[in-house]
Amino acid sequence: MDELNNRTQTAVAAIEAAATHDALDTLRVEALGKQGWVSQLMKTLGKMTPEERQEKAPQIQGARTAIADAIDARKAALDAAELERKLATETIDLTLPAPQLPKGSVHPVSQVMDELAEIFADLGFAVNTGPEIEDDWHNFTALNMPESHPARAMHDTFYFPDHDADGRRMLLRTHTSPVQIRTMVAEGAPVRIIAPGRVYRSDSDATHTPMFHQVEGLVIDKGIHLGHLKWTLETFLKAFFEREDIVLRLRPSYFPFTEPSVEVDVGFEVVDGRRVLGGSGDAPGHAWMELLGSGVVNRRVIEFAGLDPDEWQGFAFGVGVDRLAMLKYGMDDLRAFFDGDRRWLDHYGFSPFDQPTLSAGVGAKA
Ligand code: PHE
Repeated sequence: MDELNNRTQTAVAAIEAAATHDALDTLRVEALGKQGWVSQLMKTLGKMTPEERQEKAPQIQGARTAIADAIDARKAALDAAELERKLATETIDLTLPAPQLPKGSVHPVSQVMDELAEIFADLGFAVNTGPEIEDDWHNFTALNMPESHPARAMHDTFYFPDHDADGRRMLLRTHTSPVQIRTMVAEGAPVRIIAPGRVYRSDSDATHTPMFHQVEGLVIDKGIHLGHLKWTLETFLKAFFEREDIVLRLRPSYFPFTEPSVEVDVGFEVVDGRRVLGGSGDAPGHAWMELLGSGVVNRRVIEFAGLDPDEWQGFAFGVGVDRLAMLKYGMDDLRAFFDGDRRWLDHYGFSPFDQPTLSAGVGAKA
């Protein structure tokens, strides 16, 4: 009994003095390992008489528990010391500059769409979207362009070989105007929305790409007339180009889905080889540039969309988003928009922190 006590105390003392995890583990194996002396003693229990076992078993178990507890305590103490040492020696220098990781940027088209959403939200417009894969009813028929209408041919449409379940021809939408129909059908009236998105036409040169972006505007309410259209476009363009001297000229035009239709020109001058909007196109050194198509929504379109044209009237407009971006931020080749060239994106892209807001300004720094 004394011998067991002595041996246990010696072992516990050695454990408490162990300087490393390795030393501690060696001591653990010596006592509690398969061949360890405590394990050997445990094995002797089987050969004892019941009386003897009743006396010895608690002593041996006691030794085992004392040693195991000492090992756990020492392990925890070594871990704590190790943590203390790390905390004292391993420091992070927060004054060092952040590492130079590759940076993405916001594409000017995305930036301009955010700017548009912000400006029109302030005028009470919601943002709607529609599918890029359309059917010919939404893209043409409901917009007052029946099967044989010559305007259909002018759209250079990409058609799919398939028809949908209703037998409608499927196509890539050629403009955002089908969202007019979808909005009126889904939401009824009144309506005040813009609909930005991709559109597709089989056309390609420095100012045309097969995919480009438009934003549609639609207002449906009671007693809407051309005055509302002109004020809305003026307010929007002044906010977008951040100039009070934007001057518009409305010219009679033709779109099947508006009646009357109005082509909107904007006055500009050329400064350092760049077109800068502002001033009347009739002023000296100035000229007019065609900017967008618009008009009073044709009553047949309102009917196609399931509303009563005697009750509801409205105006609509459609404008190229890429074109707006080029005019505002000075790019001259549309094709570069979609090349994905890192140098172009680094130059014309925006920081994600440059969020257009009405309070901070929608004219981000290019
Ligand atoms: N959808 C026409 C286009 O793509 C633009 C437009 C929209 C004209 C709405 C009038 C009204 O050219």
